[in-house]
Amino acid sequence: MDRAAGVRHVWTVDDPTAEAAEERLVEILNDGCLGLMLALGHRTGLLAVLAQASTPPTAAELAASAGLQERYVREWLGAMAVGRLVAHDPQTGRYRLPAAHADLLTDEGDANVAAFAQYLAVLAGVEDELVGCFRHGGGVPYSSYPRFQEVMEADSAQTVVAALLDDVLPMVPGLAGRLTAGIDVLDVGCGRGRALAVLARQFPRSRFHGLDLSQEAIDHLRAEHADLPSLEGRVGDAAVLPAPWGAQSFDLVTTFDAIHDQADPLAVVRGIREALRPDGVYLAQDINTSGTHAGDLDHPLGPFIYTISTMHCLTVSLARGGTGLGAAWGRPAAEALLAESGFSSVSTHLLPHDAQNAWYVAWP
Ligand SMILES: C[S@@+](CC[C@H](N)C(=O)[O-])C[C@H]1O[C@@H](n2cnc3c(N)ncnc32)[C@H](O)[C@@H]1O
Repeated sequence: MDRAAGVRHVWTVDDPTAEAAEERLVEILNDGCLGLMLALGHRTGLLAVLAQASTPPTAAELAASAGLQERYVREWLGAMAVGRLVAHDPQTGRYRLPAAHADLLTDEGDANVAAFAQYLAVLAGVEDELVGCFRHGGGVPYSSYPRFQEVMEADSAQTVVAALLDDVLPMVPGLAGRLTAGIDVLDVGCGRGRALAVLARQFPRSRFHGLDLSQEAIDHLRAEHADLPSLEGRVGDAAVLPAPWGAQSFDLVTTFDAIHDQADPLAVVRGIREALRPDGVYLAQDINTSGTHAGDLDHPLGPFIYTISTMHCLTVSLARGGTGLGAAWGRPAAEALLAESGFSSVSTHLLPHDAQNAWYVAWP
């Protein structure tokens, strides 16, 4: 991340020399390809096996340990070695994942960049449709994205679930106590529901409800967490909360990364406001940008956010005839939306584990 920020300081857009421009653009090609290799290494288990190896393996040993085909593993190791992500000893033919890389490329460390790299293939999967949208308008629907809910769940595991009990809940004074006593909770755009499940296990006296447009996500929630009687998932559109939910139904409503890609964000946030009881609270996580291109120049995840927005967040909203806020809508716009939706008090928080998002606590 620091490296990304550093790259943008080094590489200037103001009249670079031909050599500098060529170097930068070739670097982009190489690094884009390495991103695909990281995702493959994550999905096949190669990164995890390499990280856990007690002695550096050969390609054949790594393939055997991971249960994979040696010829493919050898080629993948080639990309990783020439990309200088894996150390290679040409004398012994052995490969080693440096500890610092292992820490950032497996689930054992604080952040798994390889899990995020899966977005590259997810986004590339809709390129043909998106080119059509650039030409003719409209959008690409959620249903077109291969593995979206699965990859989103891996993203959310890092930015939401891992910090939920220790960092997220304490932003709201007294919330853990109220959850312990027993309250009604709704997570709008809950995806596969992992955050809700963590809360349901921790706070058995509370009742947890998830709402998502995606049948696949809710099917997964129901199957994965069938042992949790206090957790239910429903398929529906948050712009009109399905009965019996309505005014003053909940003590806590959450949205994790689920407002900026709405078709009608004002209807959704107004609905959330109305669904809260008078002493209820709305807790929202959404992308933290300045809202201007100039203001985001040095954002450590700037190109990542704008790319995901172009190829997913913006277009899924437009596909439903929506406003198309885009992921880079910005903190000022988020705060204005909360005020326009009738929340009387809003506090904005930044959490150290989550460089991508701002967190909002809003009271009716
Ligand atoms: C970016 S994902 C976030 C998922 C989940 N909150 C997480 O953090 O893993 C946004 C989710 O909102 C859902 N969604 C979008 N618009 C919705 C709407 N109007 N009503 C209900 N769910 C919606 C999508 O299907 C998707 O699962």
